[in-house]
Amino acid sequence: MITIRSIRLSLRFIMPLVVALTILAYAVVPLVEKLTLHWFVRDIDIRSRLIANTLNDPLAELIQQGNKTKINALLFRTIQDERLLAVGYCDGAGNLVHRTPTFPKSLSCSSAASNDNKAIVPIHQLPQGAVHVATYPMEIEGVQNGSIILVHDMSFVERRSEDTRNYVIALFALLGIVTSVITVFVAHLSWRGWMDGVRAMLRGEGILKPFSQPAVSLELQPLVGDLRTLLRALDTERRFADDSTITWSPDSLRRLLHKQLTGERVIVVSNREPYIHNKEDGKTVVHRPASGLVTAVEPVMRACSGTWIAHGGGTADRETVDRHDRVMVPPEHPEYTLRRIWLTKEEEKGYYYGFANEGLWPLCHIAHVRPIFRSGDWQQYVAINQRFADAVAKETDSDDPVVLVQDYHLALLPGMIRKTLPKATIITFWHIPWPNPESFGICPWREELLQGMLGSTILGFHTPFHCKNFLETVDRYLETRIEHESSTISHGGNLTLVESYPISIQWPPPWQDTQLSVEQCRAEVRKILALPPDHKIGIGVDRQDYTKGILERFRAVEKLLELHLEMIERFTFIQIAAPTRTALDDYQAFEAQVRNLAIRINQRFSKGTWQPICLKAEHHEPEVVNRFYRAADVCVVTSLHDGMNLVAKEFVASRDDEQGVLVLSQFTGAAHELHEALIVNPYHIEQTAEALYMALTMPELEQRERMLSMRALVRDFNVYRWAGRMLLDAARVRQREKLASRIGRKT
Ligand code: F6P
Repeated sequence: MITIRSIRLSLRFIMPLVVALTILAYAVVPLVEKLTLHWFVRDIDIRSRLIANTLNDPLAELIQQGNKTKINALLFRTIQDERLLAVGYCDGAGNLVHRTPTFPKSLSCSSAASNDNKAIVPIHQLPQGAVHVATYPMEIEGVQNGSIILVHDMSFVERRSEDTRNYVIALFALLGIVTSVITVFVAHLSWRGWMDGVRAMLRGEGILKPFSQPAVSLELQPLVGDLRTLLRALDTERRFADDSTITWSPDSLRRLLHKQLTGERVIVVSNREPYIHNKEDGKTVVHRPASGLVTAVEPVMRACSGTWIAHGGGTADRETVDRHDRVMVPPEHPEYTLRRIWLTKEEEKGYYYGFANEGLWPLCHIAHVRPIFRSGDWQQYVAINQRFADAVAKETDSDDPVVLVQDYHLALLPGMIRKTLPKATIITFWHIPWPNPESFGICPWREELLQGMLGSTILGFHTPFHCKNFLETVDRYLETRIEHESSTISHGGNLTLVESYPISIQWPPPWQDTQLSVEQCRAEVRKILALPPDHKIGIGVDRQDYTKGILERFRAVEKLLELHLEMIERFTFIQIAAPTRTALDDYQAFEAQVRNLAIRINQRFSKGTWQPICLKAEHHEPEVVNRFYRAADVCVVTSLHDGMNLVAKEFVASRDDEQGVLVLSQFTGAAHELHEALIVNPYHIEQTAEALYMALTMPELEQRERMLSMRALVRDFNVYRWAGRMLLDAARVRQREKLASRIGRKT
């Protein structure tokens, strides 16, 4: 049966075919006309010469006799041929002395040039139509004397040209119809064949079972391998997901670790710690840092238990640990150990501020800030990575622990761990983008960094594009064996799987049961900012980092107020901007730029107590941020470059009322997943302003549709699944390695 789909498929082939044939017909018709005209003229030339030759002798004789009547009779007899219109004779002085009565008045001896001159076109346009004029010298008793002029009617050529044009058009039309019918037929048959093949694949024929008979057509065979891998991965993932749904939970992770790996305990290593103890007004207070890494990894750690090794940077961190530098966290409900590493100010300056944040950070982000590499910083970076590696060796209670290494501060760590614990399963996740080989190549220690990272069992990035960049970088700068099919790199006897694992957040959100309703959150925020009840609220939540596009966002707010005057006094944009890396000049300068721009825009538009931008440049605890998310009509993420950006996902997770709009930069990893956001180029201020306006005026139904779809994605692809997928892949690699070493021992 021909379905609408197969018709649509056929149309996809037919439309270009029809267009191509029409263009071809248009091009061919004038060509054919020109060609036929050329042939006809040549034929008439030959014919004219023949007639002139035949006429020469009798006419010469009659001219000599001076018999005018006989001459006229001879000429008249000659034009009995239907196409020969007229004949004339010009004497040596160029006078038209004899001619048939049909000889056109507008033609004279001088207008009819010699036919031997090929450059002259013998066609003349006369009032009665086109004529072909041929002139031949006449010989009387072997001496040239005057010339014969033959005038042929060309109207038949026009008639024939028209016929030819019609034939050509008809031929192309017929060709189009026949090809279309064949195409529709073949497309329909192929469509049915492909559908049957895909259905067979989905039933598992030729995928999960070996081929008993060729259920899948030859064209689809290349897909079989991919689908087989995908189905197996999904199947394994499902086995660990919760029974009723496919949603991953802390329990799924625990089950997975228990069944597939060494047990429930893992070691996480990162620079940033999940809980910071600070001394404030003589009291010790605990903070959760503004960090995507912490947001994502902390729930995983609570699910798995084990040890998290991180730099203790808080002012009260030392006094809250035991004599092994350990403290149980979360403080209110301890579930895992936080093991702190101490750095001197000098070490922190070189390793963290210098090499990691003045070198690698701008190197990996396209934000047009020049990376700075200093040898002294590099030495600190190497030394501190080694300190973390020593801590891993101390904290592990087996020779094959599962170690999760986080981010660009610790690129050398996987290689260092591999040296002391060769059997460890090391999963490294790079939380920021990976640049192309040319950009990465400017780092003076590029080979050392790559070698360090290749100590990993699994190396994860947010997007396939970052993986591709990494593989190309390794290919460019190291001697390795890269298997693009399986995305693995062999280096120094170690095999590393390079995969994309888009990071996510905890689902359901931790405050789901305790949070205030959306209306209460809104009322609270309006009260703090003294805003009227129907006032629209926008929210941005970032560390004050130059990669986050905060300046561009403010300019978009300014443009919105310029373009849509009705938003003045009706909309406020709240920017929560947590101070970060404040010891660095670039960050101090950026902080000042953000502050000054907010002041300028506020001065320009403020009316009474209303100001368009409310800049809250201080740290806010996650629960408080969640209240702002819930109060907002629109959340704006305008990063100039960002690995993932979890603010986008947190906003979506916070909106159980299924309202609110997300404006999202196309340069974030999140834009590859949250397609229902309003995707913008943050460098395009007008476009971002219009997206803001669209968000603020979007009907509730559309908001709901978009939000529902994004919430389903964040729910299904939550952070437990992120970690679970990496652990599953690690378990597979581990299994394979064990098998290989067993076989190796036997042989
Ligand atoms: O985005 C990269 C990253 O390391 C994140 O993982 C983390 O959220 C953020 O930077 C915080 O940086 P820092 O630890 O320097 O405050």
